[in-house]
Amino acid sequence: MNTDYTTIEVTPLSRSIGAELSGVDIAAGICAKQFAEIQRAFIDHSVIFFRDQDLSPEQHIEFARCWGEINVNRFFQPVESHPLIAEVRKEPDQRSNIGSVWHTDHSYDQIPAMGSILYARAVPEVGGDTMYSSMYAAYESLSDGMKKMLHGLRAEHSSRHVFGEQAYVGRDLADINGRLGNTAAATQDAHHPVVIRHPFSGRPALYVNEDFTVKFEGWSKEESQPLLDYLYQHARQNEFTCRFKWRVGSMAIWDNRATHHYALNDYHGDLRLMHRITIEGEALTAAA
Ligand code: SIN
Repeated sequence: MNTDYTTIEVTPLSRSIGAELSGVDIAAGICAKQFAEIQRAFIDHSVIFFRDQDLSPEQHIEFARCWGEINVNRFFQPVESHPLIAEVRKEPDQRSNIGSVWHTDHSYDQIPAMGSILYARAVPEVGGDTMYSSMYAAYESLSDGMKKMLHGLRAEHSSRHVFGEQAYVGRDLADINGRLGNTAAATQDAHHPVVIRHPFSGRPALYVNEDFTVKFEGWSKEESQPLLDYLYQHARQNEFTCRFKWRVGSMAIWDNRATHHYALNDYHGDLRLMHRITIEGEALTAAA
């Protein structure tokens, strides 16, 4: 891993994943050299974090456009004045949060999003951290026999059971109201290799997740579930993870093809409001 950065400081959060970057003031503008180093840190660490950024929604959008085309989430409540930004909100009187199942965003799309840029606008004093897990580390630590079997597999992913009508059965609708919706748009089914070749790094990464993966292609759900459950548990071992404590003005940028994430729901009674912009990705290919 090349660590000789000249325009930023990069402090890893764990051996497997995550780094905090300093020396960056997004609102003041970023030169091409600094942006190239930020991108290198992103590829090396899979999720990067910034502190103390003071950004308007316009500046957030402008920065996101440096990373690629913006992908507007179909199901999250958009920021009213800036529909390119999705709200990840939990009010003090709400119980459920968004993102409290380990997942990677948009794997239900045939061309899944590259990543997201999450910016903290209101956070509880304690709680509301986000955990990230490395799907490179998860893959690399599997046995040769398991790797060999997984290389031959593809998996089906869907948005239907998470964002469609069926997802709302038995739930407290008042609690969800104003945050998630558009259930009729939850029609996406996609098939991806179970071990992908990362589009930037070329490294193999495990690509199944608890929220959106339905089953292995050609297998029944009953046959798939035990192996999927094993892989989910395996992928979230402590040594493959990092944990980020938010402050107002903190920002995370994660790579959906190399990470899973999980938003802790341990702050009932407090407001947490994040602005999320998601960036388009590319079709995924199987690792060799
Ligand atoms: C998400 O899953 O995109 C939200 C993560 C978070 O709120 O920390």
